[in-house]
Order: sequence, then structure tokens, then C-alpha cells
Amino acid sequence: MGDCNKKGKFVTIEGCEGVGKSTQLRLLKEYCESRGINALFTREPGGCEISEKIRAMILDPGNSDMSAMTELLLYCAARSQHTKEVIIPALESGVTVFCDRYSDSTAAYQGYARGIDAVTVDALNKAAMCGAVIDCTVFMDLPPDKGFARKGGAKDTDRLERETIEFHRKVYEGFKTIEKNEPARFVSFKAEGSKYETHEAIVCALVRRGIL
Ligand SMILES: Nc1ncnc2c1ncn2[C@@H]1O[C@H](COP(=O)(O)OP(=O)(O)O)[C@@H](O)[C@H]1O
Ligand SMILES: [Mg+2]
Repeated sequence: MGDCNKKGKFVTIEGCEGVGKSTQLRLLKEYCESRGINALFTREPGGCEISEKIRAMILDPGNSDMSAMTELLLYCAARSQHTKEVIIPALESGVTVFCDRYSDSTAAYQGYARGIDAVTVDALNKAAMCGAVIDCTVFMDLPPDKGFARKGGAKDTDRLERETIEFHRKVYEGFKTIEKNEPARFVSFKAEGSKYETHEAIVCALVRRGIL
């Protein structure tokens, strides 16, 4: 581990399936490009070669026997490589990093929804973050029922998306609890407006926090 001596800001975007995380990151990328803001857009699980291989293993519907602990360890393995290889070097060189899902997804999915105890999840998340500190988490607050309706149902090719709606409701409650416990890190958006309305609200919040 060791502290990350960073200059750039680290922003994560979290929420249930289909709530518009990738859509908002695309709009933020266009915003940054049009203003010459040096930003890196990445995603989890994945974001570098080794972690994308781990992603394929995690999401493969053929791996239906995977235990909750194996799943947690794989997410953290992917995070550790991605953080060390991509995120920390970018932050250290002054680049703003936007990451589609990060440690809160692990706490919500593997912790709150799968039921692995918080002490274990938090310790593994901490180790996997390699000293990186999240400056701001954008939470797209939309219940999973609405998210799935938006995207026209779960993808058959994604083992996590295929979980029951009860599972995804626990994930949502997990995110809400994490947000309640760490309000200073979070900016939340009732993600019910148009994608452009939500984009403007996110930009305003990030400008207010000195991130954009
Ligand atoms: N504000 C919005 N209103 C309605 N539909 C949206 C909105 N934002 C995104 N969508 C649509 O919802 C679907 C899921 O969005 P996506 O960005 O892929 O979600 P996520 O990355 O959170 O799973 C896409 O078809 C997208 O075009
Ligand atoms: Mg997405």
C-alpha cells in the first residue's frame, strides 16, 4: 500500500444497473474534451488488460457456481491492478480520473446484497485501493426496477445483471446506506430527468466542488 501522493481529482460514479452511469460519463467526457480538461475515463471491473480478463471471468454467466467470497476477491484483484497501473499514475500526473463503478459497488453488491460482512469487505476494498482516495462519488439514485425498465431488461451475458430483482433492491439499499454514512463524499442525483438535465446538474455539482 502506501499513500498516494496525488494532484488530480478522483471521481467515481455509482448506482444500480441502467441508471445512466455510462451515459453521464460519455457526456462528461464530451464536456471535458470541449473545455480542454485533462481527464481520464475508465471503468470497473476492468480498465487495464489484466483487470479486463478478470472482468470476463466475473461476469461470465457460465461461472454460476462462483462463491460470494471468490467474487469479492476477484473484484478486489481487478481493482488493485487497475488502481496501481492506471488510476494512481494518472492522479499523480495531475489528471482528473472518472471511474464507472468502484469500491462502493463492491460494498453494495458483495457486502449488502451478497451478505459478506462489512469488516471483510472494507478491509479488502482498502487494500485494493492502494492508498487512492476518492474525492467525490456521483450517485445516480434510481431504484433498480426503473433502471432495468430503461435498458429494456437485464443482459443475458452478465452474471450479475441476471440476479433477481430482490438482489438488485438490496444493492440499491446498500448504496443508500453507504451514502448516508459518508454524506460529504457523495453528490446524489434523482436520476429521473432527461440525461441532459442530469448532466447539467452533475457538472454544476462538480464545478462547486472544484473538480471541473
Ligand atoms: N436520463 C435518462 N432518461 C432516460 N433514459 C436514459 C437516461 N440516461 C440513460 N438512459 C438510457 O438508459 C439506458 C441505460 O443507460 P446506461 O448509461 O447504459 O446505464 P448504466 O451505465 O448505469 O447501466 C440506456 O439505454 C440509456 O440511453
Ligand atoms: Mg454502464
